[in-house]
Amino acid sequence: MIRFRFLAQNTVAPILSALLAATLMSSVVAQSDLTSAPTFSKDIAPILQEKCQTCHNPEGIGPMPLMTYGQVKPFAALIKDRTVKRIMPPWHNDPTTGIQKFKNDASLSEEQIALISAWVDAQAPEGDPADLPAPIQIASGGAWHLQEQMGPPDLIIKSSPFDVIANGQDQWWTPDVKFEGLDGERWLRAAEFKPSYPLGKKVVHHGHAVLIPEGESRQVALARYGVGKSWEIYPEGTGMRVPAKGTIAWNLHYFPVGAEGDNDVVEVGLWFYPEGEQPELETAGEAMFRVDGLNGMARGQDILIPPNGYQVLTGTHVLQSPAVIHSYRPHLHMRGKVMTMEAIYPDGRKEVLSQVNKYNHNWQISYIYADDVKPILPAGTVLQFTSVFDNTANNPLNPDPNQWVVFGRRGVDEMSHAWVGITYINEEQYQQAIDQRRISQETLSLK
Ligand code: HEC
Repeated sequence: MIRFRFLAQNTVAPILSALLAATLMSSVVAQSDLTSAPTFSKDIAPILQEKCQTCHNPEGIGPMPLMTYGQVKPFAALIKDRTVKRIMPPWHNDPTTGIQKFKNDASLSEEQIALISAWVDAQAPEGDPADLPAPIQIASGGAWHLQEQMGPPDLIIKSSPFDVIANGQDQWWTPDVKFEGLDGERWLRAAEFKPSYPLGKKVVHHGHAVLIPEGESRQVALARYGVGKSWEIYPEGTGMRVPAKGTIAWNLHYFPVGAEGDNDVVEVGLWFYPEGEQPELETAGEAMFRVDGLNGMARGQDILIPPNGYQVLTGTHVLQSPAVIHSYRPHLHMRGKVMTMEAIYPDGRKEVLSQVNKYNHNWQISYIYADDVKPILPAGTVLQFTSVFDNTANNPLNPDPNQWVVFGRRGVDEMSHAWVGITYINEEQYQQAIDQRRISQETLSLK
């Protein structure tokens, strides 16, 4: 193990020392290949359990299961390629800038990548099956992800049925469905958006379930979904106010992938705070921060990406009251490459909060900040978003670099906004949050 830790560190060390070490190491590796190369059973299986098998299981969204040695061995070279390039697991946050501590970090460590690489280079040996870790429990494809943590949902809402076609262009399904099942107002603690299994998991690209309360003008965004983001648990003491009655405006984007089926239904599971319990903070969940069509322009009118070229768009939003940011989820389409979220504080300091620099339209990942690092921002902070579009042939997702690209809802057109999990707070709550943060940081530095 120690040997590979050393290798991993060298991947970030200056080139000269890396080269020197590599020369030294290669003779060591050559000598000890047979005895101490990493093995599937001992070294690789635990990584696959931790970082791959939630998707790469027989019912998961990964194209092949990676559960047993027999299943993994034929893909060894491909696994090395995808992990070294950080294409797998899907996690597109720039590790060199902005906040780096997330509740849902799916990425591999440098050390894990080096270990996989060394294993593949040593001909992917199985090792002793007695070293295998106990298999992990994998929820079936149709189960609620949050069930294990939260128990079964308190309430399940359903879209009305949609007939999925096998081939064709993007399909939108926007039924209004009556919301019922609650006796009175309740506070939402968590929500999960669950397309049907197996069909819906393949064809529902993204979707929203927004509740319009009876007799009120506000909107309650119960759940927003994209492949890679299916649930949300609000932080301790934070919830969303849900009325007893209203209408759910479903907005479902189906993308035909060659499979069809009638009466497809999407479900959303809701978990509430106990009856009568009101959390301290009210959140609106994910709010849309536009990067396109600002300054009075019609939405998206400023997106115009030249053939074989790039475009950069910037959008700014001034926070009218203090706020806490829980999560960041950029939304672009196929030409999207980078989206940065920066804070410009009232005193002029500017800071990168997050940057997704390997955006991939197939994945709508919500980067959920760990509680001790999530941004707490004063009123008057400017949130500045910068999107970069790459319409060249270098962009592997680009369907046609010779087209002009404009705004539109289809994946081949463009969009530019971020879904930001944000809770607005008052001045007193802001002071409290800042004080708490300071205390926890001081405690940390004393340790
Ligand atoms: C969140 C779900 C998810 C996780 C976690 C995940 N994968 Fe994948 N993987 C996919 C999907 C979906 C595809 C196919 C589409 C794509 O490439 O985006 C894929 C594709 C791959 C491919 C390419 C297969 C091919 O035939 O081109 C490899 C190799 C792979 N994954 C390995 C891994 C490894 C190794 C891990 C863990 C270190 C991992 N994946 C984690 C969902 C996942």
